[in-house]
Amino acid sequence: MRILAIETSCDETACAVVDVVGKTTPHFTVLSNVISSQVKLHAPYGGVVPTLASREHLKNIPHVFKKALSKASTTMEDIDVIAVTYSPGLVIALLIGVSFARGLGYAYGKKIIPVHHVAAHIYSNWLSNTKIVFPLLNIVVSGGHTELVLMKRLGSYTLLGETRDDAAGEAFDKVAKMLNLGYPGGPAISACGKNGDASRFVLPRPMIASGDYDFSFSGLKTAVIHCIKKHPEIMSNKTARRDFCASFEQAVADVITKKTMRAAQEYHVKTIALSGGVSANTRLREQLTQAVTTHLRAATFIVPARGFSTDNAAMIAAAAYFTRARATTWKNIDASAHAPLR
Ligand code: KG4
Ligand code: ZN
Repeated sequence: MRILAIETSCDETACAVVDVVGKTTPHFTVLSNVISSQVKLHAPYGGVVPTLASREHLKNIPHVFKKALSKASTTMEDIDVIAVTYSPGLVIALLIGVSFARGLGYAYGKKIIPVHHVAAHIYSNWLSNTKIVFPLLNIVVSGGHTELVLMKRLGSYTLLGETRDDAAGEAFDKVAKMLNLGYPGGPAISACGKNGDASRFVLPRPMIASGDYDFSFSGLKTAVIHCIKKHPEIMSNKTARRDFCASFEQAVADVITKKTMRAAQEYHVKTIALSGGVSANTRLREQLTQAVTTHLRAATFIVPARGFSTDNAAMIAAAAYFTRARATTWKNIDASAHAPLR
């Protein structure tokens, strides 16, 4: 099956061509994975401006689409099915990808598979791992989501917990803005905090001991404001800023690791999969790897290859393959801001 996948839910315009062979253990070959990032456009605002994102998608999508086809040395005639992100995300951004997919579906007489963005982050793990053993615990951490999702088999999702306020990536972005480190905040904080002393500044670990699997990162953000007021050297001294970034990263990593490990033990999972933009974070990856190898000998920890962590269209193709029964005609495809994971 050759899939053309389209992603425009936030600030990346992305198209990919992916071949899939095999049924129960599919093997994915990513022929092209083109991403046009809008990071520079939104950087002055410290976050994504929806109308700017939508216009930029409109401008870029024909070029990204053409490039994805040419890099894959293929044409629309050879595409078996189109996949597009329909939810969740900024509706005016999603509508650009959805409209483009509908146009292609109409013009070339191809079916379209609507893909849920969080499912795509989850299935991004299949792009580099052919055999994933269930039960599988997913920790999806991105700019818009922080969710612990248990999968007993393909297509079955139980939401164990989620953020009650800011997503983990959102917290990185907002704290980076406070520190004048630029946007997106995750990679900036990570780079600044590399080799920093993570124990120098005391920050809370919100909800770490709550009996549930929910998260809260807005309190951590408030604690950051107080800490910067108390220690103004964070803004003026390079070493203090480095240590502060490391301390912040550590606080986020501690909460995510603790809750993930507790859920993994309670549900006796065989695999723990980290995904979403924040999964690119080295400290979090290392901490989870170490926790799983030390305390859960029977389980495996997996994480997508870095190019598939942040938003991309190859992961949309992977999810589309597993949800291919939903393929429908262009007339039935629409965008939605908050569809539940299914
Ligand atoms: O999955 P993604 O590309 O888009 C959404 O679906 O939201 O995630 C983007 C988020 C941003 O908040 C960004 O700051 C964060 O992922 N991020 C990181 C890192 N790279 C990206 N956070 C922490 N460390 C990183 N290395
Ligand atoms: Zn995402």
